[in-house]
Amino acid sequence: MERAEGWPGEPWPSSAHRAGADAGHPGELVLGGVGVHALAAEHGTPAYVVDEADFRARARAYREAFETAFARVGTGVDVYYAGKALLTVAVARWAREEGLRVDTASGGELAVALRAGVPGAEIGLHGNNKSDGEIGAALEHGVGRIIVDSLAEVDRVAALAAERGAVAPVMVRVTTGVHAGGHEYISTAHEDQKFGLSVNPGPDGGDAPAMAALLAVLARPSLRLLGIHSHIGSQILDGAGFEAAARAVLRLRADLAERTGTLVEEVDLGGGYGIAYLPGEEALDPRAVAEDVAAAVATVCEELGTELPRVSIEPGRAVVGPAGVTLYRVGTVKPVLVTGEDGATFTRLYVSVDGGMSDNIRPALYGARYHAEVVGRRSAEPGVLARVVGKHCESGDIVVHEVELPADVRAGDLLAVAATGAYGRSMASNYNLLTRPPVVAVRDGASRLLVRRETVEDLLALDLG
Ligand code: LLP
Repeated sequence: MERAEGWPGEPWPSSAHRAGADAGHPGELVLGGVGVHALAAEHGTPAYVVDEADFRARARAYREAFETAFARVGTGVDVYYAGKALLTVAVARWAREEGLRVDTASGGELAVALRAGVPGAEIGLHGNNKSDGEIGAALEHGVGRIIVDSLAEVDRVAALAAERGAVAPVMVRVTTGVHAGGHEYISTAHEDQKFGLSVNPGPDGGDAPAMAALLAVLARPSLRLLGIHSHIGSQILDGAGFEAAARAVLRLRADLAERTGTLVEEVDLGGGYGIAYLPGEEALDPRAVAEDVAAAVATVCEELGTELPRVSIEPGRAVVGPAGVTLYRVGTVKPVLVTGEDGATFTRLYVSVDGGMSDNIRPALYGARYHAEVVGRRSAEPGVLARVVGKHCESGDIVVHEVELPADVRAGDLLAVAATGAYGRSMASNYNLLTRPPVVAVRDGASRLLVRRETVEDLLALDLG
């Protein structure tokens, strides 16, 4: 990926650098060729800023890494961008222009992908509790794959497809028992959680739920069994889990072939590729994972004596996470004397910004750690221990738990938090009736509004009094 001169390194987007001494604001952070002062003046704060070139480069990096690795072992790959990380019409277009398909998890995400002009055939629909309306929309727009999540859903999709005289392409989401990812709430393939159908025997004995669902799909004339799907979790920094899940899925595929003579064409290994959130952290390298997973798939298929499947993956965070930065303005700065576990006292600077847990719930929800810098200027002051907090009526309203900021950080400073592109805006709320920030794209020295800032009028318009 091409980096700007003076790139500060991960977790910043590749175009990030500090302006020189001759700039209007010496030392300010420049993103996609646009300085943060200009961004704040034009779009206000807080704002989600997305580096378009960085997004595109990461999308390409995943596609090329997986295409190369799987071509080497003799099969094809499709990369679906997981829209849940951040989906706007422009973002869906970028993904498509870079050769990705789009994975959606609700009727809303599906509508945005369609609005972007993504053909139904290049969209997948997920969800453990899809409504009839969502399934109907998927059928109406010829969605390329509906990923079914329960036995009951097999019947519902079959009935809705039959009503329309359609044949729905279906994948069955299975849980392989591989437990991976950063936090319990975001690991999704162990047994004791709501997603998918287990490859292990269920409470009623008999066939494993995964096998039972595959057989059920094969038995419905209005369904076409496209393949098996596995997503093991999120923010995974070790590729071994993907290999283990691939092995389990391929074994299930071979078992099904042995029982029924049907060898499904496709295997989807989900998303979850981890990124760097803090300086010094290392992201998962797509080329290394792709090579390892491709090798594992080839070896297992050879052992099982089955043909290679077409493979697909669904990265979200790894494509958009590091491309996004949240820009805030500092409101108040308050030093607090804290007594540590060892009894010693120290000062922590509480730096309040004009957003908070409504624009990034991840620190409160998962204890997620982020990196922040004062970005409107360079300071020569030494760093002091700081905590960046929001403006909500809640003490857990923390944006950055612990970071060194210059001792002269003050009201009016612009502050940026890195790597907020994934699951920031998409999980944003209106807590305290704050309005959700805009999504601004930067590229080649210009900024463009992708989603405008919500207004209080927007909020009042929903309230019928
Ligand atoms: N595919 C499926 C079926 C998924 O459930 C997910 C994430 C993805 C792909 C994309 O995962 P990614 O590559 O972005 O890690 N909101 C949480 C993560 C939960 C994600 C749930 N599913 C977060 O903020 O970390």
